[in-house]
Amino acid sequence: MRTIAFYSPKGGVGKTAASVNTAYLASQSRCKTLLWDLDPQGAASFYLSGAEVVKGKKLSKLMEGKAPIAKFIHEEVYPGLDFIPAHSSFRNFDIKLEQEEGSNTLRQMLAPLSEDTGLVVLDCPPTLSRLTEQVLEVADRVYVPVVPTWLSLNSWNQLWDFMKDKKLGTKKLRPFFSMVDRRKNLHKEIMDRRDELLKNAIEAAIPYASVVERMGEEGMPLEVLAPRSPAAAMYRQMWKEVGQDLGIARS
Ligand SMILES: Nc1ncnc2c1ncn2[C@@H]1O[C@H](COP(=O)(O)OP(=O)(O)O)[C@@H](O)[C@H]1O
Ligand SMILES: [Mg+2]
Repeated sequence: MRTIAFYSPKGGVGKTAASVNTAYLASQSRCKTLLWDLDPQGAASFYLSGAEVVKGKKLSKLMEGKAPIAKFIHEEVYPGLDFIPAHSSFRNFDIKLEQEEGSNTLRQMLAPLSEDTGLVVLDCPPTLSRLTEQVLEVADRVYVPVVPTWLSLNSWNQLWDFMKDKKLGTKKLRPFFSMVDRRKNLHKEIMDRRDELLKNAIEAAIPYASVVERMGEEGMPLEVLAPRSPAAAMYRQMWKEVGQDLGIARS
């Protein structure tokens, strides 16, 4: 089982859109995937509201499972894609984590899932808390959306320094450009200097596209909503790079 996170200390940069699209594409390539919405704002749920609603029967079946986390799982919202929505009981997660200093609670929670889950995708809140620190520690790779602005690049550099200071490993960080609007001079200027400004980045750069915004209204991953759109093609390219990076088989 591989674990990846979409994280940035900035909000509104495309973490949730990328989490949902990547998780969906992963599940489509015969990789049993679990998407976990760790943001109490619960945005990922909006992007999946068109998915199959879980019946009580399935939930009770899950409750018999060995992992306590299993009772929060909505099985197969799409074939091969399980989902843990933001849950009210996760609100006090951070307080709990503060009390349990030393061990990585998140790692322990994820451990029982490893048997049949190929990939866990963690959609993170834009905070730097004990929870996100554990995410940054547990994840095999952390994908960081960076909007082509100096402010966003600055946040990226701060995150890199944080990972270095905390000895969490900067190598697992993979930034990518997000919400790129080449009509904007600043975006164009930064994209032209991308190799210099954003080291270790994945090639795929997600364009600013209104069809991505519509994911929330329609409650669907982009691959379901508008598979022929250029933005969907870019998310596919991103998943290809992510899959290769993780060594996960793709169809
Ligand atoms: N590539 C994009 N193009 C246009 N709008 C986007 C794009 N990605 C995300 N959005 C919109 O921007 C807002 C924030 O996106 P979201 O993925 O929720 O960011 P985060 O999780 O980083 O807060 C949402 O309204 C979403 O629809
Ligand atoms: Mg989000």
